[in-house]
Amino acid sequence: MNPSIPLTQTPAWRALAAHREEAGDRPMTELFASDPARFERLSVRGAGLFLDYSKNRIDDRGLALLAELARERGLEAARAAMFAGQRINNTEDRAVLHVALRNRGDAAVEVNGADVMPAVRDVLQRMGAFAESVRDGAWRGHTGEAITDIVNIGIGGSDLGPAMACQALAACGHPRLTMHFVSNIDGDHLAGVLARVKPATTLFVVASKTFTTIETMTNATSARTWFLASGAGEADVAKHFVAVSTNAERVAAFGIDLANMFGFWDWVGGRYSMWSAVGLPIALYVGRDAFEAMLEGAHAMDRHFVDAPLEQNMPVILGLLGVWYRGFFGSASVSIAPYAQALARLPAYLQQLEMESNGKSVTRDGRPVDTPTCPVIWGEPGTNGQHAFFQLLHQGTDLIPVDFIAPLKASHSLADHHRLLLANCIAQSKALMVGKSAAEVRAELSSAGLAGEALEALVPHRVFPGNRPSNTLLLPDLSPCSLGALVALYEHKVFVQSVIWGVNAFDQWGVELGKQIATRIAAELA
Ligand code: F6P
Repeated sequence: MNPSIPLTQTPAWRALAAHREEAGDRPMTELFASDPARFERLSVRGAGLFLDYSKNRIDDRGLALLAELARERGLEAARAAMFAGQRINNTEDRAVLHVALRNRGDAAVEVNGADVMPAVRDVLQRMGAFAESVRDGAWRGHTGEAITDIVNIGIGGSDLGPAMACQALAACGHPRLTMHFVSNIDGDHLAGVLARVKPATTLFVVASKTFTTIETMTNATSARTWFLASGAGEADVAKHFVAVSTNAERVAAFGIDLANMFGFWDWVGGRYSMWSAVGLPIALYVGRDAFEAMLEGAHAMDRHFVDAPLEQNMPVILGLLGVWYRGFFGSASVSIAPYAQALARLPAYLQQLEMESNGKSVTRDGRPVDTPTCPVIWGEPGTNGQHAFFQLLHQGTDLIPVDFIAPLKASHSLADHHRLLLANCIAQSKALMVGKSAAEVRAELSSAGLAGEALEALVPHRVFPGNRPSNTLLLPDLSPCSLGALVALYEHKVFVQSVIWGVNAFDQWGVELGKQIATRIAAELA
């Protein structure tokens, strides 16, 4: 998988650079005018999702060159290597097999010649059984009461996925259960949650791949102390604390019964782990069947990623367009705009997924990269963002591509809200593309009664340059299945980009230095 020549020296990259010079500034409105079928041709369906990528500054030749770039960089072979369980995480010498966690068929998935699927199915079965027992009230706290509150203690990949998904799927959450997510070492986070829950009816899920993360271990220890201080005994801990980890030794040392541990494996990266036991809070909240529907959705996207030709492959298209803007337009950030309040945590989730994966400046074999890599990922749900930072998207100095994401069907029954929400979503992508010319502004102002100098003074302020790109991703609804497909789509987009840039998307050495220094400073402060 190591790229043999630097990215900028590949024939496709050079051709793309020339193409950018020639055609990159051509207005999108012109591309639409010259091709009435542009919307149909530049949209694709996969795993139940619909992607409209017609509002991008790209023509057929540009798209063909991007696909060529993917081939030159060995995307197809890299994809096959990941799905075959090869140790593609080269700096940690690990396979990368989150796709095995949602492998729904009977097919074996091998790591080092051993099929991992029996163990995957076994944990899934245990998770499902445990989740159902908490949901139906069979699992009781130490005073005999049913569980009402679930507190997930974890951080990064052991927090963001379940937190994002539980919020996204709240419409189908269990009515008796309230979900809480504690991640920050700032005691205000845990204290705030503990003030709202009762020890006798609370279940703590301590989630940490390594079971060494300082935030999680500190919060878990404090939660245990709080629980015991309520009058509960050591023997009661087993009814109120379960662990999710790859590290049984550490879990036992912490005092959690291994019967209450749900395991996963080193070939599951933290930020790719919501399909594993890390997804236990999701299963608890929405139930075993809905959790499995989420896996189904992700699996459908996996099949699409493997089977669809590169030119009609949703993660490939999203990934390549991102590379195009980052490499040839200087776009240093991408905005994620979910038009769904329930997806409020999606931008934060994607920040870790993309920036911890591809925020790298050396290639897999340790040479400096020769192009910029991962952009900054940021965003907020629409329509809130429109009243905050969309000003900059429309009239700021940077070109910031936007991903608009919207479920077609609402999860609520309030009249008219969803029509207005979708209208705003569609309007924003159109406004970014078409902009507003000085002539249009003049006409508008003069029909509002302005003239002369007063009118002219306002014109530059009210012009929208337009030609600002976006993708629109439509989900049929915000169901577990659609959510699974959506998240898997972004996972594979990140993989595609890592292959083009030549970086290892599956390590995260950049988080280590600060941790080491903090440990030293904490000792000094003590
Ligand atoms: O510090 C970064 C990180 O290692 C992430 O990659 C990971 O998701 C998070 O910390 C939590 O790690 P763990 O699950 O081992 O507690």
